[in-house]
Formats: sequence, C-alpha cells, structure tokens
Amino acid sequence: MATIKNKAVEVDAVSGASPQLVNAMAGKTKICPHLQQHYDLPAEKKKHFLKTPEAKHLFMNIPRDVARVLIKGFLDGTHGIEMVGWDKVVEYFQINSRIIPALTINPGTYTMLEKMYHFEQVQNPIDEYFAMGLAGGQALRNRYDAVTNHAIFHVNEILARQENCLMIDIGSGPGRNGVDMCLRNPIYRNRLKIDCIDIDSEAIALGKKFTKKHNLSNISFVQQSMTNLNGRYEGKVDYGILIGVLCGLTRPERIGLLSKIKPYFRKGARLVGASLIEKMAYDDLLCAYILRETTGWGLQYPFLGELKEVFEAAGWEYEGYFMDEPTRFYEIGIGIA
Ligand SMILES: C[S@@+](CC[C@H](N)C(=O)[O-])C[C@H]1O[C@@H](n2cnc3c(N)ncnc32)[C@H](O)[C@@H]1O
Repeated sequence: MATIKNKAVEVDAVSGASPQLVNAMAGKTKICPHLQQHYDLPAEKKKHFLKTPEAKHLFMNIPRDVARVLIKGFLDGTHGIEMVGWDKVVEYFQINSRIIPALTINPGTYTMLEKMYHFEQVQNPIDEYFAMGLAGGQALRNRYDAVTNHAIFHVNEILARQENCLMIDIGSGPGRNGVDMCLRNPIYRNRLKIDCIDIDSEAIALGKKFTKKHNLSNISFVQQSMTNLNGRYEGKVDYGILIGVLCGLTRPERIGLLSKIKPYFRKGARLVGASLIEKMAYDDLLCAYILRETTGWGLQYPFLGELKEVFEAAGWEYEGYFMDEPTRFYEIGIGIA
C-alpha cells in the first residue's frame, strides 16, 4: 500500500485506487450515526412505514415467519446480527431477490440501477418493493432525470463559448446519462466527447453495446480506476459527473476522492456529484433498514449541506446544488475546479 501525499487515503500500488474506492460504494462499515438515530425512534413513530403500498406488497408476498422477524427487528431498531432468526430473513432475501445478492457482493454495482431506472424489469416481490419505493425506483429515477437534464444545460453553456467539450462520467456504469444526452442532442455527436470511466468490465461491455446500437462514436469507455487518471487528463476536462459513487463513502473518503480527481479538470470546469442525504432515512426508513441489514451495505446519510463542505475541503468552489425532484433524497452538488 502507498499513501497519496498529504491525503489520509491509502491507495493500492497497482490500481492506484484506495481499497474503499476500488469498489466505491462498498462498505460493510459501522452504521452511519444519522441512520442509527432513526433506528432508535420508538416503534410508534415507525409503524407508518409498514403501511405504504410497497411495504404491504412486500409483506403479503414473503413467508409470514420471515415478515414477522423483519417487522420486529425494524420496529425495535435492532441490527440483524443481534436478532434470533435473522439468518432466515437474510437467506430468504438472498435467494428470492436479484438485487440483494448483487448488492451484497458489490454494493457499487450498476445492475441495481438498471432496475431502479426502470430500464430492466424486475421479476419478484422483493425487487418489486425496491422498484416501487420512494428510495428505490422513485428517487433514483428522479436523480437520473435531474442529472441528465442539468448536464445537457451545462454542456450547452460550454458549447456556446467553445467548439468542443470533453466530458468525463466518473464511475459511469454503462454510461446511461451520456447516451441519453447524445440521443436527445444530435449535435453532441460531433462536438461533445464523453469518456465513461469504470472498473467493471460488464458495465463497459453493456455501454459499448448501447453506443454501437446508436452509432455514438463520440462516447468512449475507459476501464481504469477513477483515482488513477492524472496522466490521461491533467487539466483537460471541461465537464464531469460523479453519480452513484459518493453515497457509500465516509466524509474523509469523499474529500480524498474529490481532491484526487480535481487536477483532471480545467480551471473553472464544473463537476456534478450526487450524495444521498438523511432525508431518505426520514422518509423511507424501512428501505434503509432492509438494505443495511440484509446486505451489510454501509450507506451514509449526511445532512443536506455536507456536500458543500466536502467539495470545499477538497479544494473546489461550490456553485450550489439541485435535487431529485420531488423526492429530494440527494444533494446533487456542482463543484467548480
Ligand atoms: C452505482 S454505479 C453508478 C453508475 C452510474 N454513474 C449511474 O449513476 O447510473 C457505481 C459505478 O462505479 C464504478 N466504480 C466503483 N469504484 C470505481 C473506481 N475506483 N474507478 C472507476 N469506477 C469505479 C462501479 O463499477 C459502478 O459501475
């Protein structure tokens, strides 16, 4: 292990990525204190989460004994590992969902998002629960739309003052946002070059299928760690997006990542980065509980405003933020290099 100078982030000597960032959303870490505060609420204040249409759909379609343990754990605010019978809940969710086992192996997987954006249909009651829910198929799809719309607006501003634009999608998965942007704006084929950066060869293979199908030769895929690209970009990037990456990282890890990637950007260039916020725990605690207790995924729930502090601590200016309307579970910040 080497250490990035002046940064408390360890990097892998081969890939250049920190162990946390190799799988940027991973983290079977200790619970975020903001989420723990919601776990600790009295049962009375949590009962309404069991009455949403998606929760009723879930509980009607899983075995009664599994539902009983899950509901008890949720209302008591008990961590699964401390509960008798929890192994049965985990086993049932692992076998009967496609999302839960995929997230357990790789919390940063793009495959869950393909379902939450509704590009891929879900096939079982557990995954239907996520696809219907506020934190799942609603907020994530809203985030996707908000990011694509803002990115088009931002890129158009750049193209109004210069002939070409280099955009990077950092942790792109199959590059859905960029493909969508180019299909909606035919002039981008000649004037916008998008590099989609991801370490997952399957995500890249899927993305290449889309770009081939739509003949988008202006979109390229770079299979490399996002923390290891300075030789490639060094001050050349006009615009960037970083979506679905920060949510599982702690505050020091976020600062480390944002500091590491800043030199890729031209002075004054924008980077749009999304961070889940505490409102998800407030509005959809059942989903937060199920995700954490069946997969071990250490999602972070900072308050609105923390992303500004994180960008600034990493040396960026903060232009402001937008949100996944109307759910408002994400602070989607705009940093200026
Ligand atoms: C949750 S997905 C987000 C995909 C896409 N940005 C979106 O919002 O739809 C996170 C992606 O980051 C990638 N990733 C994780 N760590 C990475 C690293 N160190 N370098 C490059 N990509 C990474 C994962 O492979 C995964 O495809």
